[in-house]
Amino acid sequence: MQIFGVDIGGSGIKGAPVDLDRGDLAQERHKVLTPHPATPDGVADGVADVVKNFDWTGTVGITFPGVVTGGTVRTAANVDKAWIGVDAAQLIGGRLGLPVTVLNDADAAGIAEMTFGAGRDRKGTVILLTFGTGIGSALFRDGSLVPNTELGHLELHGHDAETRASTKAKEDEDLSWHHWAHRVQKYLEHVEMLFSPELFIIGGGVSRKADKFLPLIEGVRAEIVPAQLQNNAGIVGAAMAASSR
Ligand code: BGC
Repeated sequence: MQIFGVDIGGSGIKGAPVDLDRGDLAQERHKVLTPHPATPDGVADGVADVVKNFDWTGTVGITFPGVVTGGTVRTAANVDKAWIGVDAAQLIGGRLGLPVTVLNDADAAGIAEMTFGAGRDRKGTVILLTFGTGIGSALFRDGSLVPNTELGHLELHGHDAETRASTKAKEDEDLSWHHWAHRVQKYLEHVEMLFSPELFIIGGGVSRKADKFLPLIEGVRAEIVPAQLQNNAGIVGAAMAASSR
């Protein structure tokens, strides 16, 4: 079975039909640039451009980089604040004329990783963290998701953690891998203190370069592994969430 998945990110909106049996894209994905400012109307148009690129008439799952409850956006750390309070499912569903499910981007990536990637068959407490423009989190207990955990906004040394330890912080401050890994380590220690997970899965684009920073992280009890679906986890997880609604 196939469902369409769309991942709304800070720089791009990308999507493709997803083969739910394989947990992979059924066709090559299409990407458009995220408009700036990333207003509700502009982003909805971008999603429509992506979906229209395919001959798609079924259900669509969509990720959003903020808290989403019942289809409504509650926070917008790295997108236009006009999103707060918008019923994204209604807005985008109306634009597409198709049934849609909207969920947090890290939750979507986590759902995909727990079934098809690094979290497969893992019980206990598993936390996926995505490092990118912000830090996203997905918390699982025995495979069940606790949605919208927003652990990227924990306070770390008096700062919003994602402003110190995201990959954007690494780029903005031109941090070495060593320096950045130290910040990530402090952040993981803090999350571990709160939840004592068995496993951390490190996602986001930087998971491709895991060998550059994971070996530098010490003193965390939990196992730490890179995500396996990498760039497509959000698209696959969005489609999975939409199929089970
Ligand atoms: C947002 C989260 C999101 C993460 C990754 C954070 O700033 O608050 O909802 O999952 O960025 O995009």
